[in-house]
Amino acid sequence: MSKTSSNPDLVHTHPETGVVASVRIGDCRKELLKFDQVKNESVDLVFADPPFNWARDYDRHETGDAWDDASLSRDEYLAFTYEWLDLCARSLKPNGSMWVNIPDDSAAEIVVHLKKSMHMINWCIWHYRFGQNTKGRFINSKVHALYFCKDPNNRTWNADPVLEESDRRAIYGDPRTESKRDGMPAGMRVPMDVWYGKFWGRIQGNNKERRAKHDNQLPEVYLQRVIACSSNPGDVVLDPFLGSGTTGVVAHAMGRHFIGTEYSKANAEMAFERITSGPVREIDALRGESTAIHKTRKRRVKRATSGKKSKTQATS
Ligand SMILES: C[S@@+](CC[C@H](N)C(=O)[O-])C[C@H]1O[C@@H](n2cnc3c(N)ncnc32)[C@H](O)[C@@H]1O
Repeated sequence: MSKTSSNPDLVHTHPETGVVASVRIGDCRKELLKFDQVKNESVDLVFADPPFNWARDYDRHETGDAWDDASLSRDEYLAFTYEWLDLCARSLKPNGSMWVNIPDDSAAEIVVHLKKSMHMINWCIWHYRFGQNTKGRFINSKVHALYFCKDPNNRTWNADPVLEESDRRAIYGDPRTESKRDGMPAGMRVPMDVWYGKFWGRIQGNNKERRAKHDNQLPEVYLQRVIACSSNPGDVVLDPFLGSGTTGVVAHAMGRHFIGTEYSKANAEMAFERITSGPVREIDALRGESTAIHKTRKRRVKRATSGKKSKTQATS
């Protein structure tokens, strides 16, 4: 397909919902400006999972055309980061939101920068098991999911599709959770700001979601949660760093228009193929499920009657 400013490289219209997914190949700082929704500041939700400047391969060995994730100095990386952050923030509607997925080393800088023009709603943590093993320091097992909006008094927020069973119901059978006064359905709660659980692991090894040649893929449930709470069907979702395409595939399946950019042609084409085929997991597969760590209520410790002290026999 030939490329003009009004003509994305890859376009797919969903056969049932009619929502459109459009992808441009190249540097997001140039390519995003070619989307009308960016020019008109009519994006509802940005989700960005940028390069981390960690010498990630991003398929360079395959194509040679991929982003060089080791070439920027720290200062250059931060300048690059602030440039795309500002561009994405400007593209949003007044009630729009932006989420950024970022590891420890640049989270603080991004928060400080975004706080100059946006409002922070949550600093969430995506917690996963099986981080890289380390012996001289604690093993990393998290990434930050930073949630910002333009206007805290006017933002798209849907609690209902992301509710989960409360621990009070799942573990303790506490009757107070069955007659809530805060407007939430009985026994349910908005999830906590640390995210973990079934299907929330890193996409590695023989994980059903795993796409070949991409070592930094996010789980579908992560994007499902973000898109469900921060946008509505028919809204426009933007991802400047498509990677394997997780945001696009989930947004498209959830009836949102999608616009995205990706530096590597090979990644963009693979992501687009994924967008057209749909997600691996059913959207809402986990809807309402508990994420309780302890499944059963702790029983009281029984004391021996012989006068001797009994051993603690708490079960969980
Ligand atoms: C961390 S990965 C994104 C992973 C994605 N969230 C997923 O679930 O697969 C970052 C991606 O950004 C791309 N990238 C890096 N710099 C870019 C730039 N300046 N413009 C557009 N894409 C870029 C890389 O090629 C890589 O595929």
